[in-house]
Amino acid sequence: MSITSFPAGGRDAAAPTSVLTTKVTMPALSGMKRQGKPITALTAYDYATSRLVDEAGIDMILVGDSLAMVVLGHDNTLAVTVDEMLHHTRAVRRAVRRALVVADMPFGSYHGSVNEGVANAIRFVKEAGAEAVKIEGPRVDLVRALTAAEIPVVGHLGLTPQSVHRMGGYRVQAKTTETALQLLADAEAVADAGAGAIVLEGVPREIAARITAALDIPTIGIGAGPECDGQILVFHDILNMTFAPHAKFVRQYADVSAVIREAVEQYREDVEHHAFPSDEESYHLSAAVRDAVETADTPALAGIRQV
Ligand code: KIV
Repeated sequence: MSITSFPAGGRDAAAPTSVLTTKVTMPALSGMKRQGKPITALTAYDYATSRLVDEAGIDMILVGDSLAMVVLGHDNTLAVTVDEMLHHTRAVRRAVRRALVVADMPFGSYHGSVNEGVANAIRFVKEAGAEAVKIEGPRVDLVRALTAAEIPVVGHLGLTPQSVHRMGGYRVQAKTTETALQLLADAEAVADAGAGAIVLEGVPREIAARITAALDIPTIGIGAGPECDGQILVFHDILNMTFAPHAKFVRQYADVSAVIREAVEQYREDVEHHAFPSDEESYHLSAAVRDAVETADTPALAGIRQV
């Protein structure tokens, strides 16, 4: 059995059955676009959270290079390495049964040459079980080469975080007529080169809508308005697990930081006040062994310890 194929219903009883039946593939995303069914996507970076995201029925899980910031604590996405991304992609792969698993190619892994990009993308598929890779920018030659190498590609246009130094910060892109039309042309070129979907990040709603209408492949928006074929957000953002102010486009669905803080503080207090563990949370000797241990003399105990 390949790492990316799963028997229907192969997940344990805890998973909702509706989520188990249909594996999401890259062609299936285009099918969803044709049917007008919104595509749901989230980032995830480890086994536990990916499993929860998958079981909640999210269609696409991106092992985003945003992990550099939200998991590894870097200031931007540039430092994360191929090996680190592979490590996290493997963990996600082990958790996910239904969603499409997309690995983000990190900065430097495809910027030197097309050959280098293809070689690194093959590692994500072969060594980590990714079903597609995401690359930033209108790298038409690379999209074509990856497609020829049987690797589905998700493009990423607009605010591309790996270009932070060129952009001079994280700024909304394509706000002028010229740059908006350039974005439309780039999206068409990336789609023509074989991309299966395009993430549009940090662009005006109007141009995202125009691109979405122009392309046969789905657009997945993040800060790109509601007309995109799908939406993606960073897992840590929707749960308030980041330590910075949220961007305008983030909607917070729960305050997991508060839940974690409260639970951890309670645990600390319980330990400090001898309230944890309780007798029920302790293991016990049988009455006979307890009596034998209590009446045994010290040398015999020492002998037991050495065994
Ligand atoms: O790395 C990332 O999280 C992304 C976004 C599209 C959310 O690229």
